[in-house]
Amino acid sequence: MAFVNENFLKLRSGFLFPEIARRVREYEQEHRGVSVIRLGIGDVTEPLPPAISAAMRAAVEDLTRRSSFRGYGPEQGYDFLREKIVEHDFHSRGCDIAIDEVVVSDGTKCDMANILDIFAPENRVAVTDPVYPVYVDTSVMAGYTGDPGETGEFEGIVYLPATPANDFCPDLPDEPVELIYLCYPNNPTGAVATRDTLQKWVDYAKSNGAIILYDAAYECFITDPGIPHSIYEVPGAREVAIEFRSYSKLAGFTGVRCAYCVIPKDLTGKTRDGSEVPVRDLWLRRHTTKFNGASYIAQRGAEAVYDPEGKRQAQTIIRHYMANARIIVDALMSLGLNAYGGVNAPYVWVKTPGEETSWDFFDRLLREAQVVTTPGAGFGSAGEGFVRISAFSSRENVEEAVHRLTTHLS
Ligand code: MLT
Repeated sequence: MAFVNENFLKLRSGFLFPEIARRVREYEQEHRGVSVIRLGIGDVTEPLPPAISAAMRAAVEDLTRRSSFRGYGPEQGYDFLREKIVEHDFHSRGCDIAIDEVVVSDGTKCDMANILDIFAPENRVAVTDPVYPVYVDTSVMAGYTGDPGETGEFEGIVYLPATPANDFCPDLPDEPVELIYLCYPNNPTGAVATRDTLQKWVDYAKSNGAIILYDAAYECFITDPGIPHSIYEVPGAREVAIEFRSYSKLAGFTGVRCAYCVIPKDLTGKTRDGSEVPVRDLWLRRHTTKFNGASYIAQRGAEAVYDPEGKRQAQTIIRHYMANARIIVDALMSLGLNAYGGVNAPYVWVKTPGEETSWDFFDRLLREAQVVTTPGAGFGSAGEGFVRISAFSSRENVEEAVHRLTTHLS
């Protein structure tokens, strides 16, 4: 009999979102005919912007003609997309990023999990707490951790509490770490990192030989002009940070699938004998071996995000989600609840009333108001006592959800 990867057995429960989906399904089966409003998983609801879907249709047409047909594309992405990325996402913000430092993929979740392939499991990993659970669960799967303790926290991971007291931007670790996951605008708290905060992390990584894995999947929701969209806006980041970007929330691509990461050539790791190795080369070696490129159709769609019309239409949808977030925040505040985020991020992080636990509040909102949220405890122990409400929905659903919350919580 073949041996299994026992690291998977360290994970006590299923992944957070399928677990929530299971509970909601069970509730719906017991209560046939009720209308449940889903503000749990952050999945886009609005259809693709027409300029972007037109580009994808044209790409399908390309594939139907011998003269423009394409088979396998370059694993690291087509130049037509990478050129746009470099110009619009980085050069326009003064970030010095070259086209051969951009690697296109089919998603940030997979990139952030797969990146662990090229690092050594003895690295100590730091995460903010609460945290997008993929960083922790995939570190466990890849053997970077020991077993979970009583509280569910894994030995080998340094958890950095993100609380209202520190504006959800934790202090630097007080023990050595080599890999640091940061996500800003933050999932789940909706917090943002200022330039000073990012500079503090970059300086820490430089002086401690650490690498920052910077998840910027929600950068398109930043409304405050002073907040950096990329970690490379901060001096020194090229030497210590890998940035991950996605079209999922920016252009409604959660089903289409297209993302990219940036690994500057200046970023190095070390071997056991102390020699320096460019991390980008390892990632390219991995990517070109294990991946055959994001689909041509998805990449043509992503390219259209940078055209003036595509950009304008994508922005309209982003403004729609952010107006939803405002409606949710206002309603929660008028109920006397403490609500955070929702200004530069599509997530609202809400303190549960009194001592109510995250899962109890989640269950109460599901049973009494038929509104699905995400229990904060699912993002880590410092998320206990909070729930996350997603602004990804239609206006009608958000208004109805707010009406139900107001009725049941006032
Ligand atoms: C979330 O709800 O946290 C996100 O939708 C999950 C994801 O992006 O994978």
